[in-house]
Amino acid sequence: MNVPHASFFLKQGRFYVSVLSVGVLLLFIKELVFSRPKTSSASIEDETMSEWRRSPLWVEDQRPQINPHKFQYLKNHPYYCNNNEIDLLILVSSAPDHYEEREAIRATWAASGALEKYRTKVLFLLGQGKEQQTLVDQESNLCRDIIQEDFQDSYYNLTLKTVMGLKWTAIFCPQAKYVLKTDDDIFVNVPLLHAALKAQQTNQITGCIKNSPIHGFQPIPSGDNPQPMDMMPPAHPAFTAGAGYILPGPLIPELYIAALNTKFLPIEDVFTTGHCAKRIGAHPPLHDSRFSCGEMVTRECQMSKMFTGHKVTPEMQFSIFETLSEQICK
Ligand SMILES: *[C@@H]1O[C@H](CO)[C@@H](O)[C@H](O)[C@H]1NC(C)=O
Repeated sequence: MNVPHASFFLKQGRFYVSVLSVGVLLLFIKELVFSRPKTSSASIEDETMSEWRRSPLWVEDQRPQINPHKFQYLKNHPYYCNNNEIDLLILVSSAPDHYEEREAIRATWAASGALEKYRTKVLFLLGQGKEQQTLVDQESNLCRDIIQEDFQDSYYNLTLKTVMGLKWTAIFCPQAKYVLKTDDDIFVNVPLLHAALKAQQTNQITGCIKNSPIHGFQPIPSGDNPQPMDMMPPAHPAFTAGAGYILPGPLIPELYIAALNTKFLPIEDVFTTGHCAKRIGAHPPLHDSRFSCGEMVTRECQMSKMFTGHKVTPEMQFSIFETLSEQICK
């Protein structure tokens, strides 16, 4: 009878020990490489990524682009729209330290009770500020209406904020019938705007048309000091003022893709409603004088017949809202 030699057991033992240690080592490496801290931001990132990968834009986003938009979400609420029917999604470009402006908007024309019957929702779009993120974190946890990406928040980067809004809507709120892009110093007369959109459905970008040439952005001719002509082409297509314009929902994914493939221009309204719109054949936009072209609101009652009003301070948000609620304007 052949009795196995002791060295056989020894060899087998060594074999198992080495398999085991390689396994442990692999597990350790996996933990090290793949495990992320279990913070809320990690789960936001996961939810964001899985939604994004299901979106038809995912493939498009993997192609080479002249103007890629590959920023990370610092704040996101992927289920903000959920499967709800949404007539109007209002995207308010705001700066991280504009707490007062956002508070005033939430307490007045964007008060959730006031918007439900219009199937309208409001979100604030932020870039990354220089100061501490803690206050934005707290505000976002409390109000759950802030979308923030990690590009530097600056005037020059307002275009990125709009592109971020297009991308977010295309992924997380594709059912929105219309999007209003606006700013945090704007009063929005939601009842009037909603009624108009219901009465006259449109597939055109609509706002206050500002025609080129744009003052202040024209290159100044100069002999020995050439201007950055390539950054500021001398003529732009017609565009709607950034204070507030309507984008029909079905255009949003196309506009986003166009934005990725259109030369960056640090003038968000010209870029989006002029150049990108032209690229997808959604040009020229439609003019409606009830959208503000940028002039200041001087009397509360002006806003009873306007969709949007510009240069509105937090105090004025309250006084306009109260005046309109009292229905005393003729
Ligand atoms: C815009 O954001 C990008 C990304 O954070 C940053 O590199 C760039 O400096 C910003 N531009 C301006 C002018 O703020």
